[in-house]
Amino acid sequence: MPMIVCHGPKGGTGNTFVAAHLAMGLSAQGADVTVVSVAARDTLPLHFGLTPAIALPALTAPADEAVLVGGINLRSWRRAPEDLDFVPMLNDLGYFQPGKDRVLVVDVPSSETRLARRLIDHACAHVCTINAQPDTLALLPQAFGEAGIEGLARTAFVINALDETRRLGRHGSAFIRELAGPRLIGRIRMDEAVPESIATLQMLSRYAPASVALSDVQQIAEAIAPTLDSTSAAWIAPVSRAA
Ligand SMILES: Nc1ncnc2c1ncn2[C@@H]1O[C@H](COP(=O)(O)OP(=O)(O)OP(=O)(O)O)[C@@H](O)[C@H]1O
Ligand SMILES: [Mg+2]
Repeated sequence: MPMIVCHGPKGGTGNTFVAAHLAMGLSAQGADVTVVSVAARDTLPLHFGLTPAIALPALTAPADEAVLVGGINLRSWRRAPEDLDFVPMLNDLGYFQPGKDRVLVVDVPSSETRLARRLIDHACAHVCTINAQPDTLALLPQAFGEAGIEGLARTAFVINALDETRRLGRHGSAFIRELAGPRLIGRIRMDEAVPESIATLQMLSRYAPASVALSDVQQIAEAIAPTLDSTSAAWIAPVSRAA
């Protein structure tokens, strides 16, 4: 029952959007998926077409309290950042073992860097969602430096909300490609259907099945799937300290 940690260096880049759609993509591929939010202010349910009034049950809450959307188990553990028993608890629950059948996806807000690091040490993959904006790019050297080469061993980068019709978007994504190399596993195009689906309280797949962002994020889920039953991800290679 492996764990995928979604965490990026900057807020608002689409980390929660990617976590939700990774969960959906892996579920569509047949995995039994639990997705847990550790954010104090939680927007994860919105990507599943749920109303903001929904409070997700705790990770350890009984099955009869479960919130299930399309078979995906939505949970929360708000005290995770200060809960030193969180990682041992996940271990006890069996989430650190490779295997394709059951998967835990954790949505970690950008501000919770220490929690992210504790989790990434046990994850089969760390999905780092960034955008191609200069303020995000400016944070990458610091993020790379803090993680260290070992810490990046399980990291895959995703560029989200990319608009390559704009010069800055093209240049930013070229810079990330050069920096991340094979660790860049895909890009998700900017698509108004993403916020529109939230505004209409629908899943993106229902609101706009032909959405370009949906097809892009589905490809990301396909790229991540092989890491579930492997102890080393395909993109693992020595990283240079180009940052
Ligand atoms: N590909 C996309 N195209 C257009 N809008 C997007 C895309 N991905 C995400 N968004 C929008 O960007 C906003 C931020 O997304 P999201 O909440 O997933 O980011 P986050 O990194 O988790 O933010 P936070 O730091 O607040 O947790 C949302 O309004 C979402 O609808
Ligand atoms: Mg978020």
